[in-house]
Amino acid sequence: MTGRPGKRDLLSVADLEHDLLTVLERAAAMKRARATGDLSPTRPGTNAAMIFEKASTRTRTSFEIAMNDLGGHAVYLSPKDMQLGRGETIADTARVLSRYVDVIVYRAYRRSDMAELARWATVPVINALDDREHPCQIVADLLTLRERWPSGFKGRRLAYVGDGNNVLNSLLLGSAIVGLDLVSATPPAYRPPSDLVATAQRLAQASGARLTFTEDPRAAARDADALYTDVWVSMGDEAEKEERERAFAGFQINDDLVGHARPEAFVLHDLPAHRGQEITDAVMDGPRAAIWDQAENRLHAQKALLELVLRRR
Ligand code: CP
Ligand code: NVA
Repeated sequence: MTGRPGKRDLLSVADLEHDLLTVLERAAAMKRARATGDLSPTRPGTNAAMIFEKASTRTRTSFEIAMNDLGGHAVYLSPKDMQLGRGETIADTARVLSRYVDVIVYRAYRRSDMAELARWATVPVINALDDREHPCQIVADLLTLRERWPSGFKGRRLAYVGDGNNVLNSLLLGSAIVGLDLVSATPPAYRPPSDLVATAQRLAQASGARLTFTEDPRAAARDADALYTDVWVSMGDEAEKEERERAFAGFQINDDLVGHARPEAFVLHDLPAHRGQEITDAVMDGPRAAIWDQAENRLHAQKALLELVLRRR
């Protein structure tokens, strides 16, 4: 028998369709509590296995601290040290880890491997990034926007400039769910996949979000309330480095582009940044950067997501 009926996997932002606003509220509450020294240890005795096929600074650390805050424990696993790296199957790995832990956090190269792990795990699986999405990142991003826009997401315009990658894919779904207008500027060959856009447009119909697409970064930035970018060369895309750098020239968040946005607009980046490529030092280190709050919010978002999928013991 595969999986466990009713277990709560978070592989896509779309899996949060009915919970995203509640998760954001809970994350904000736990952030406020933590500032007073209350770590919200609501899931004592729980355990997480964290399999990371790729490098990570923020996601790994924030999940580990999040489990600790909740009263649980996290075990970090690198495939190069696991039998997975020597040919043990994902299915067998999932079945064994499910006997030890309450949740598996997985950063994978391929969505198909993410789906395979979720299929065989009898505990919830959380996608900590794959080639299709980065759902946990987008929860932190929306938390950051919510902090700056107390009146809500409706009528706000977020401009994403750069690669139509995992981050944009999750951002499209997240914006669609919360009712945020998102304009994406990508080179024509780097648009997000049409099936994902179709799902996002379906979700947008319910929330009233407007999702629009352009090849012109300035048109996207015009009158934006916030700007967002990500690397031109994601982990796994290294072989395309040179052609990508050519294709994305002009898709940089710099002072000129920020000048097209609203005067109070701020800038997001999920990090790590390639300074001088998709974003300049001046913007990253300047007063418009909401990037450091955004990075902090990974922790608070992670806690709310873990609480959602972890059962009380
Ligand atoms: N933004 C993000 O996921 O960063 P890491 O790769 O450092 O985890
Ligand atoms: N798009 C980037 C995000 C890194 C957090 C990547 O996949 O490498």
